[in-house]
Amino acid sequence: MLRWKTGRWGFNGLFGTLRSGPIHSRNGNDQRYVSDVSDFENRLQKNAKQRFKWAEREKVTAFRIYDLDMPEWPFAVDWYEGFAHVMEYPRRKQVRDGSIDEARIEVVRATAAALQMVPEKIFTKTHEKRPWGRGQYERLTTTSTLVNVKEHGLTFECNLSDYLDTGLFLDHRVTRARVRQEAKGKRFLNLFAYTGSFTVHALAGGAAETTTVDLSNTYCDWAERNFKLNGFAAGEEHRVIRADVLGWLEDARGPFDLIVLDPPSFSSSKKKMGRRFEVQRDHRWLIEHARGLLSPTGTLYFSTNFLGFELDARFKDAQPLDSLPGDFRRSVHQCWRFLGPVGVADGVDRSPARPARDHEHRKDQHPPKRR
Ligand SMILES: C[S@@+](CC[C@H](N)C(=O)[O-])C[C@H]1O[C@@H](n2cnc3c(N)ncnc32)[C@H](O)[C@@H]1O
Repeated sequence: MLRWKTGRWGFNGLFGTLRSGPIHSRNGNDQRYVSDVSDFENRLQKNAKQRFKWAEREKVTAFRIYDLDMPEWPFAVDWYEGFAHVMEYPRRKQVRDGSIDEARIEVVRATAAALQMVPEKIFTKTHEKRPWGRGQYERLTTTSTLVNVKEHGLTFECNLSDYLDTGLFLDHRVTRARVRQEAKGKRFLNLFAYTGSFTVHALAGGAAETTTVDLSNTYCDWAERNFKLNGFAAGEEHRVIRADVLGWLEDARGPFDLIVLDPPSFSSSKKKMGRRFEVQRDHRWLIEHARGLLSPTGTLYFSTNFLGFELDARFKDAQPLDSLPGDFRRSVHQCWRFLGPVGVADGVDRSPARPARDHEHRKDQHPPKRR
């Protein structure tokens, strides 16, 4: 159950309501102390000092500065080439009593002060519980604040205002670099490709052919813009395919030498797919099918951000990877490498159930927890 909000804070409105120290609930009878915002500001400033130097060495202009370092300030602050993207992770109680709204105001002011920027360049998003239905990748506004960021000499278009996510998942930077290193001369497949950032790295690494698959026209177009920004073009050798990966995999033909499989935790677009996908339940089917497309010496990277995810124990040859970039404190994803087109654990059947179509789901089935 997740719901998202988005917003940008104007300078005047912001400073009119500033406060720090004890926070009162709306009805005023539940006073409790929350950490002074100056603790957050100091931490952010300290992190930023070290992180900006690190980013210069790493040649990246989009990176994380604060990663829920202090539980009293449940925010992630990312830098995007002169802009800040602040994601809040409120607890239910904070939403109910409104304290998160006050905390957000303080955090925006403290971020502006610590990073010496105007609040107009700070974008806030809320990650909170919401019912099934609308997807994480839907548009929230049409303001379109775009910025091109750099990652190891490559350029990526990011949109800070319109969606919950910006177009570049910073936590996958290490895996993208790995793909680039391994891509030379390879046939590369990017499944659930989003804005095609893995493909851009594969292209930069010299991939011979690339196939980029995503359900969304918006993201397929965005991927093509990212190709262009880096001097590449979609075409016969570098195909961008708008398709449901689940259906596409049923008919797909390989072989591919390098595959990235990074599905969403849930996908429930009935209109487009006619079925629901849940990574915990369906990953075995997905990995099996994608792996079936590998060349004999091929490599598949599988990654998920689903909190509490457990890889099917039958995948005995899965190699867990340490893929979290240095600017992240929390383990926000898990990633494994699979070598070769072999099935799951030796001797285990090769035909796990495919993700069910919608009418096959039981009505009383409860949606699992998501973060
Ligand atoms: C977790 S993101 C992938 C992130 C991407 N690998 C990256 O690192 O940039 C999920 C993507 O899956 C796409 N998607 C969701 N369900 C899909 C489906 N059934 N088939 C194809 N794409 C799907 C969404 O449009 C979104 O772009």
